[in-house]
Amino acid sequence: MNDRLYSLIEKLQKERCLSLSEYEYLIGNRCEEAAKMLADAAVVIRKKIYGSSVFVRGLIEISNICKNDCLYCGIRKSNRHCERYRLTEEQILACADEGYSLGFRTFVLQGGEDGYFTDDVLCRIIGEIKSAHPDCALTLSMGERSRESYERLHAAGADRYLLRHETADKEHYRKLHPETMSFEERIRCLYDLREIGYQVGCGFMVGSPYQTDAALAKDLKFIETFMPDMCGIGPFIPHRETPFADEASGEVELTCYLLSVIRLIHPSVLLPSTTALGTIDPRGREKGILAGANVVMPNLSPASVRKKYELYNDKICTGEESAQCKDCLSQRMKSIGYDIVTDRGDIKHFNG
Ligand code: SAM
Ligand code: FES
Repeated sequence: MNDRLYSLIEKLQKERCLSLSEYEYLIGNRCEEAAKMLADAAVVIRKKIYGSSVFVRGLIEISNICKNDCLYCGIRKSNRHCERYRLTEEQILACADEGYSLGFRTFVLQGGEDGYFTDDVLCRIIGEIKSAHPDCALTLSMGERSRESYERLHAAGADRYLLRHETADKEHYRKLHPETMSFEERIRCLYDLREIGYQVGCGFMVGSPYQTDAALAKDLKFIETFMPDMCGIGPFIPHRETPFADEASGEVELTCYLLSVIRLIHPSVLLPSTTALGTIDPRGREKGILAGANVVMPNLSPASVRKKYELYNDKICTGEESAQCKDCLSQRMKSIGYDIVTDRGDIKHFNG
């Protein structure tokens, strides 16, 4: 490893921030030795805060109907081959009940931007889950909505909101999304969510088409300034029915490298080792944890709809039952010396 790279990693550990050009250098000049140094430092700091615990979140994919047309996404509106579904309220509650009996204490309701899920409908669902399981945290990942809507959902009991910023580079954002969507609106949502009082998650795909090291440097700078409670990063994987069908997938190695960097920027952040990482590498989720992640999100959706929530080709965990999915992840974590814990898994603030 060259001296500049070494001193940048030392600086990152000490100051928890770098300039844009330093982040770009860190990414563009990475090597195995640098990855190991970053991962070792990331694991040390994470162990100091969270020990060897990995938090689990039960993911319920409530609808694959979406009014948006993100160019990368397998459930985009223009994909006519996508078999659409929407879970009923009873199904959603049944998934949460099953998850609760398996020990889950955080549920994530995720879906496309489906007009059926008005504030009234979502507030009712949130209220029912919260009154059945008051000791659970509820996370929403339902895309862009108005501030008033986010306020109502929060008042109804939603605790957290995941909305990946996707890319912090405006030009890049435009290449990944239709003209009807804008970077400014995405960022507006994130700041509104924060002000309203949610625990907020942003994030991005690694290796998405047109991504440059300079764009990734902006993502890291955004994380450093926004300081999200959660940060979802996973490799881009093409979907055959999208305009990006022939693009290459993101890399495991770069994803893990960035997980370590993000852990060092923001030591207490809740950082998932994603299903997408497990899809491009059979041991991807283990590698993510060993690089500094501390969250996994087993699927709690009914087995009958899982294949239909196909964001990208060959997505894993689409055949298993919820209990199998949880046991599988639990074994995987044990195999690398970590334990999954099923409490709410709130962020632990850390000064140091
Ligand atoms: N509609 C909500 C939203 O926009 O935040 C939530 C659902 S959206 C499908 C969840 C995330 O899936 C997106 O933020 C995106 O980063 C990720 N995603 C979509 N297509 C993907 C792909 N082809 N490869 C990897 N991740 C993808
Ligand atoms: Fe809406 Fe992907 S385009 S969830």
